[in-house]
Amino acid sequence: MKDPDGVQFLQWCLPRLRLRWPGFRKVRRRVYKCIDRRLRQLGLADVSEYRRYLERDAEEWRALDACCRIPISRFFRDRAVFASLEEEVLPRLAEIASARHEQRLQCWSIGCASGEEPYTLSILWRIRIAPRFPGLGLRVLATDVDTHALERARRGCYGRGSLKDLPADLLARAFTPSPQGLCLKPEYREGVELFQQDVRLTMPPGPFHLVFCRNLAFTYFEAALQREILGRVIERLCPGGALVIGSLESLPAEVAGLEPWSGRRAVYRRSAPDPGEGSARSAASPPGAHR
Ligand SMILES: C[S@@+](CC[C@H](N)C(=O)[O-])C[C@H]1O[C@@H](n2cnc3c(N)ncnc32)[C@H](O)[C@@H]1O
Repeated sequence: MKDPDGVQFLQWCLPRLRLRWPGFRKVRRRVYKCIDRRLRQLGLADVSEYRRYLERDAEEWRALDACCRIPISRFFRDRAVFASLEEEVLPRLAEIASARHEQRLQCWSIGCASGEEPYTLSILWRIRIAPRFPGLGLRVLATDVDTHALERARRGCYGRGSLKDLPADLLARAFTPSPQGLCLKPEYREGVELFQQDVRLTMPPGPFHLVFCRNLAFTYFEAALQREILGRVIERLCPGGALVIGSLESLPAEVAGLEPWSGRRAVYRRSAPDPGEGSARSAASPPGAHR
């Protein structure tokens, strides 16, 4: 599949999946490759045949949806964000949790890919923060819709490319070399729970002190879905809790209950105890809501 047919096809199908074209512009060739594989499996000649196929077979939209998952991630992605977490956000959240006599900081990584993001948090917490908060643990719920990505997360072994941004001291302490690559030591996997979940349909109940929603909803989802997801995430943040988004992303306008974390890019704090109940409670799209 090539431009301009590919662009035209994505501009037709993405809104039907509640996704948005601008998010896919840069990664479209990755999606083309997956669709090309699917065309070969189905014995179809080109995207116009595929379009007709999709119009006949509602189930096929699931396969197309799977082609639109972008699994790119790496440890310590966006250094400035992890610097903010280390210097200010995590210590502040740990103080809040300790003041409330909570035993663990509750975190959620949405679209955790192969574990790079939740494991980065675990490494940072254990090595740099936890020694200042004895008795306080960390639980990271890590969810992704893609079972293959979650299998890789369970294996916990990575190539150098995934680890290039991780500071050398953290890399040396948290990983051991093996024939499968550099593998995360068991103690850094403790407290990280991996679950298959489509964030459009279900969410863990919370409450959470910290939620990562990076490089997924606010890049790839259509505007209305972004607002729905954000409302439901805010409901799950405890007062004073933090939401971290991708460093190139922005939140939908006019969101109640969140304020920027002062001086920190891509980090927000839940401000009001009870954000706009009505919009935040709007229903998730059912699986058949693609068309
Ligand atoms: C670009 S990666 C972002 C990974 C990580 N958050 C980061 O910023 O490095 C997006 C991830 O979201 C997952 N994903 C896509 N659609 C999803 C959905 N509806 N629910 C949950 N995860 C989803 C993909 O499988 C992929 O692993």
